[in-house]
Amino acid sequence: MNIILLGPPGAGKGTQAARLIADRGLVQLSTGDMLREAIKAASPVGLRAKAIMEAGELVPDEVVNELIAGRLDLPERYSGAGFIFDGYPRTEAQAVSLDALLSERDMKLDHVIELIVDEDALVDRITGRFSCSKCGEGYHDRHKLPKVPSLCDVCGAEEAFKRRPDDTEQTVRTRMAEYRAKTAPILPYYEARGLVRRVEGMAPIAEVERAIEAILDAA
Ligand code: AP5
Repeated sequence: MNIILLGPPGAGKGTQAARLIADRGLVQLSTGDMLREAIKAASPVGLRAKAIMEAGELVPDEVVNELIAGRLDLPERYSGAGFIFDGYPRTEAQAVSLDALLSERDMKLDHVIELIVDEDALVDRITGRFSCSKCGEGYHDRHKLPKVPSLCDVCGAEEAFKRRPDDTEQTVRTRMAEYRAKTAPILPYYEARGLVRRVEGMAPIAEVERAIEAILDAA
């Protein structure tokens, strides 16, 4: 089963992808994570993407299309359970490219799950978040602080918290504007094929997960 998780920054795509991996063995393909890895490695893709991401704008289509094509071809990626596309596609050109990449491999999309959210609440979600750089556990300034301020609750790492450079309020507003202008318009492309399912993304995390699981179970 191959699914796309669609929604603006902070909608919960990464959070729900992690749960689907744990529950169903699906493989997550997050272009945001791939680009952050490329920046960390100072690869040519990372050098090209860094300033664009820090401005909250979209990285060129050909860059992310190539990243996805490369991951689909890694043999260890074929768990057999399928893929979760998280943060991809984000433009119509990316959607068309994904269709071609899948059909070349005799694969198809099963669902496009749109998380319906309130943008103002998302600014709070994003600007307050931080995570442990050792184990990835997520925290929030207002909703989920570590029990001991400098220690990760899960792995015990000390002073290892990090924030994403694009999680400032101004950049989040640009990211949301990019979503409205370039990503939301791809929904009709999938609606015309009856693939879009909508989930209330402002509900508690476990409830959002249950709604997504119900859609996948009904398939
Ligand atoms: P990317 O990394 O994809 O970021 P994003 O889409 O802006 O999404 P986020 O990761 O910020 O949010 P999310 O929806 O995953 O929410 P999360 O689960 O983390 O992209 C970053 C940049 O890379 C882009 O701006 C662009 O420059 C570039 N890029 C990436 N892909 C690209 C592409 N295809 N084309 C071109 N450029 C590309 O949750 C957020 C917070 O909310 C967390 O703290 C979480 O705990 C909390 N939370 C989640 N769900 C709930 C809930 N139901 N209730 C309460 N809190 C919740």
